[in-house]
Amino acid sequence: MKMTTLEKKFVNRKQKGEYNIARVRDCFNHLDLGHIYRGLELGCGIGAVSAFLANEYNMNITGTDFDAEQVELARSLHPETDLLHYRVEDASRLTFPAHTFDLVIAQNVFHHIPEWEKAVQEVARVLSSGGYFIWFDLAVPGLIKKVLKPAARHSGLYTLAEVRSEFLRCGFTQLYYDRIPHGPFSHHHLILQKS
Ligand SMILES: C[S@@+](CC[C@H](N)C(=O)[O-])C[C@H]1O[C@@H](n2cnc3c(N)ncnc32)[C@H](O)[C@@H]1O
Repeated sequence: MKMTTLEKKFVNRKQKGEYNIARVRDCFNHLDLGHIYRGLELGCGIGAVSAFLANEYNMNITGTDFDAEQVELARSLHPETDLLHYRVEDASRLTFPAHTFDLVIAQNVFHHIPEWEKAVQEVARVLSSGGYFIWFDLAVPGLIKKVLKPAARHSGLYTLAEVRSEFLRCGFTQLYYDRIPHGPFSHHHLILQKS
């Protein structure tokens, strides 16, 4: 779902990009970076993480977002290079061929995607065998999900158990997990590897 202007103001802050980069750096301590050449970021927003990966790690990165305005902003703040490209994509209907990437990153995106299960399936499809999936997002307790469901038709609403079960069903193994309290919800950080 497209964000409102107010949401964009909050999400597109420089500090938010820096926080996201710090989380990705943490995750990289758990990964074998020698096998990562091609990366995909879903819901890249202003593109800070994609630009960081291309510039600091020389990875070939495609930053994608559902919202063309966000993609334009990413391009203007972090211009495209041989290693850095942006394009408009819906995470639940990716247009890339199977096994295109060694790494997929999705930070704070899945709770915006009504068909979030399809997005998990798409990540599994576009990742190569042994590829990594870094997933940071909110999940809600079962009771809150029940209450919010009628009003949240345009969002992704899932419990941690549900999203984990979809990861497992799509052939992912969990390598790392961390939970950060976030108001009444929790922010979950997972690193997964595709079998
Ligand atoms: C909360 S922002 C997160 C941006 C950035 N990843 C961050 O953590 O700051 C969610 C982003 O996901 C994008 N988005 C929403 N639905 C999407 C979809 N179905 N496919 C791809 N991107 C989507 C929005 O346009 C927005 O840029």
